[in-house]
Amino acid sequence: MKFYRTLHPRPVVIIGSGDVEKGEINFMACSWITPIAEEIPTIGFACDKEHFTHQLIQKYKQFSVNIIEDFELIWKVGSSSGKKINKVKTFNIEFKPGKTLKIPLLKNTLANLECKVIKEIEIGEVCFYIGEVKNWEATNFDEYGYQEFWKLPLHKGGKAFTFSSKKLYFPK
Ligand SMILES: Cc1cc2nc3c(=O)[nH]c(=O)nc-3n(C[C@H](O)[C@H](O)[C@H](O)COP(=O)(O)O)c2cc1C
Repeated sequence: MKFYRTLHPRPVVIIGSGDVEKGEINFMACSWITPIAEEIPTIGFACDKEHFTHQLIQKYKQFSVNIIEDFELIWKVGSSSGKKINKVKTFNIEFKPGKTLKIPLLKNTLANLECKVIKEIEIGEVCFYIGEVKNWEATNFDEYGYQEFWKLPLHKGGKAFTFSSKKLYFPK
């Protein structure tokens, strides 16, 4: 049994890395991700140092966070490595460049965030990247976040995914 399963199900995203102009582009699945601060808008995620994503972030110091309903694609990019295959070609991934950074963003998403790495913390097998959010966009979004919040995929563990119910609860 794994301690971290106590914090699942949790939102799962696709991290984009590389540089669109240099033609180096990769995507991987990630569920160990969190907002960090608002004064400096920041997001942090844990990236295994063996991943191709880690190599590209070391090189370009930027990443994108892509929120997408398509858990089939999430599984594909989360179970294959850019060290062995070109995921964009293999999975026919549609992407576009960021507006402020030359980072690849997925098309047809609920949201995209462009992040510039401002801090890196090495812990065991992982590098925890903290990125400043330089630009972000989301569709069907209001002050409560996604209007269709049940489309946000949650990672249960391994190959299992789930979605939240459509019901909202408000404390008294
Ligand atoms: C649902 C899911 C969530 C994942 N979350 C993480 C994560 O938070 N951090 C991480 O380093 N790897 C995570 N992975 C594993 C990577 O996505 C996977 O090892 C991927 O093949 C790495 O690709 P790359 O070598 O092209 O960077 C996850 C995989 C899946 C399927």
